[in-house]
Amino acid sequence: MASTMLSLSFAAPSLHQSQKREVGCVETASLFGNKKVDLLFKGKSLGRTSMSVAVNVSRFEGITMAPPDPILGVSEAFRADTNDTKLNLGVGAYRTEELQPYVLNVVKKAENLMLEKGDNKEYLPIEGLAAFNKATVELLLGADNPAIQQGRVATVQGLSGTGSLRLAGAFIHRYFPDSKAMISSPTWGNHKNIFNDARVPWSEYRYYDPRTVGLDFDGMISDIKAAPDGSFVVLHGCAHNPTGIDPTPEQWEKIADVIEEKKHIPFFDVAYQGFASGSLDEDAYSVRLFVSRGLEVLVAQSYSKNLGLYAERVGAINVICSGSDAAARVKSQLKRLARPMYSNPPVHGARIVANIVGDPTLFNEWKEEMEMMAGRIKNVRQKLHSCLAEKDKSGKDWSFILKQIGMFSFTGLNKVQSDNMTNKWHVYMTKDGRISLAGLSLAKCEFLADAIIDSFYNVS
Ligand SMILES: Cc1ncc(COP(=O)(O)O)c(C=O)c1O
Repeated sequence: MASTMLSLSFAAPSLHQSQKREVGCVETASLFGNKKVDLLFKGKSLGRTSMSVAVNVSRFEGITMAPPDPILGVSEAFRADTNDTKLNLGVGAYRTEELQPYVLNVVKKAENLMLEKGDNKEYLPIEGLAAFNKATVELLLGADNPAIQQGRVATVQGLSGTGSLRLAGAFIHRYFPDSKAMISSPTWGNHKNIFNDARVPWSEYRYYDPRTVGLDFDGMISDIKAAPDGSFVVLHGCAHNPTGIDPTPEQWEKIADVIEEKKHIPFFDVAYQGFASGSLDEDAYSVRLFVSRGLEVLVAQSYSKNLGLYAERVGAINVICSGSDAAARVKSQLKRLARPMYSNPPVHGARIVANIVGDPTLFNEWKEEMEMMAGRIKNVRQKLHSCLAEKDKSGKDWSFILKQIGMFSFTGLNKVQSDNMTNKWHVYMTKDGRISLAGLSLAKCEFLADAIIDSFYNVS
């Protein structure tokens, strides 16, 4: 802790011999309010002692307390709650029917193989593990995609979805300083942080219609049209977070039309490939559509959810360019940005992905496990809907829950109602009314339906 030295002069107290040394910490007194003050006796002359007072004022005094993260802060509050019935529907992480974290069997198998092989822990190149980069772009676009075959994709392994988005943010800031990002309203909370920190200006396009708890398609289209030409339009590839509402294939076509017309650059965030429908190919529909139209596209990928590799931080940023020259230059600049940020990415998770995708047996096992996880969430969604429909005698239509897709459901509960869910029912969720169905079991659906109905009707 840094000290501020104050010089004071006053009559010396009677000092013990050992305290009369030229420099020495003699005592700690509480002089300035609650501040802890060290008195340093520097010397004594003519019955007066000149003292330097070291006040422990931190150099970081001006730093204010940051608010808890709106998503991860929910888990912290959940851990502190001692109630037996508590339920954590805040964070988007898959749980088993027993509400326990889940490590995929296929991941355990890949890790055992890696251990047997005795891979080393040397640094990866800045762009990451070559086998991972190959696997990830093929999963995204399909191995036979012409963009891959023509060498038009710049792929750099990133620190999961967040780190990949952030790297792209740095790239936009450096090479498109006059462009802004357009993000959906609402969107995953961290998008705003990422673009703020990357100093990329952003604004929102309409997405959610509270009247229908569905997509505000007209609002979305008109806001994208109204954005300055050449904006980066951030789109959720599938399983929109937080709403769980995705455009239909026809709507995706229209979105692509407007983006093309306005010379915008589509920037997909793909955090749930395979996890939404259970099929890797189906969930890549939107990205593949845009690429097939010859558009230049940015895509951030994450393996946190679909392989349960949350803490391994494995993902990638792909920039699909119109030619291989541009792709090579873009990749070189992404590497240049990554080097001073984190030097090179971690190897373990990347090896897991590469080993699973590169081995047909493991790959099939992964697909089965992913289907199982997506299936469990679909079952829970179904059951929650039936419980709500049965218990709510008002005739309210809860079918929007069934129309939503992926890990999340947007309940339509407002902040005060969401607070009631937590304060009265010990159900932890984000304040925008989002619940993670991945944290819900069939056994808890009735309880949750009671909590939602109470909060919806009894709290304004
Ligand atoms: C929409 C979206 N994008 C990106 C991410 C990034 O996750 P991670 O950094 O764990 O890969 C998430 C995680 O919740 C997300 O929901």
